[in-house]
Amino acid sequence: MRLTAALTLLGAMFMAFAPSASAEDTPQELSAAAEKGRKLYDNSCISCHGNNGQGIKDRGPSLVGAGAAAVEFQVTTGRMPLARQEAQADRKPPMFSDEEARQIAAYIQELGGGPTVPEGDLRDGDVANGGRLYRLNCAACHGFTAGGGALSSGKYAPALHPSTDRDMYAAMLSGPQSMPVFGDNQLSPQEKKDIIAFLQYMKSDHDPGGWGLGRFGPATEAIAIFLFGMVALVFSMLWIAGKS
Ligand code: HEC
Ligand code: HEC
Repeated sequence: MRLTAALTLLGAMFMAFAPSASAEDTPQELSAAAEKGRKLYDNSCISCHGNNGQGIKDRGPSLVGAGAAAVEFQVTTGRMPLARQEAQADRKPPMFSDEEARQIAAYIQELGGGPTVPEGDLRDGDVANGGRLYRLNCAACHGFTAGGGALSSGKYAPALHPSTDRDMYAAMLSGPQSMPVFGDNQLSPQEKKDIIAFLQYMKSDHDPGGWGLGRFGPATEAIAIFLFGMVALVFSMLWIAGKS
């Protein structure tokens, strides 16, 4: 409640003090990359996200303020352009190269601002601390070994093995669909790098412990023990019955 009030107030203040330059079609000068991105956007995204990214009712949300991070994530993981409306946009082979994805991202960024993925080595972090932070913030949905897990109403948290460093950073910054946003005040940039270091370390084939039964977590192990136990029980019953 108080947050909404504060935001409304902030909005009102902004409206009052903002220069009245109207935000008609492409307002400011675009950089060369963003200009290329605009062309790609106008071909592949405009039908759902609208002219200048303001969104189209019942087709796609506004991208103003979504930021380069969200665009890069959605496009490099092949989720966008969306082919059809469904419960959750799945990871697909991407339609654009990474360079093109970053051009579209630059365009949306210059239109409306928002979070961006930093350059440089994103896995330069502390694996042990990353593991601790992962178990605290992510494991509930993505599973202890990042194998993914089901959520309610047909949604799921995907396995994280196909994700690149930049996907991971961008997912945390943008919080796609039912994933929460982990802004820099929730997880500092260094903590995000720690988590990425941990996830990439796990991927590079270090045995996370437990039986390797698909790494779905303790449930599989319990089922395996249960099945073995039942079979052993049935055989011993037959053996006892055979003796009497
Ligand atoms: C067929 C319609 C459709 C097309 C085409 C499409 N989108 Fe989307 N987009 C959606 C819908 C619906 C959502 C919201 C649901 C979701 O996230 O899956 C969405 C979500 C997004 C988001 C997440 C917004 C946020 O606030 O996190 C981004 C970023 C995005 N789209 C970018 C793009 C880009 C870039 C393209 C072109 C390459 C594109 N979309 C093409 C329908 C579409
Ligand atoms: C409430 C459940 C939830 C939590 C907590 C959560 N996620 Fe997610 N995550 C999701 C869902 C759902 C998606 C898929 C979103 C989509 O497809 O648009 C996702 C997607 C991702 C992806 C993209 C995977 C791919 O297929 O490209 C990454 C990477 C990721 N999450 C990392 C994290 C990390 C790291 C944390 C902890 C800091 C975290 N998530 C916490 C639910 C969650």
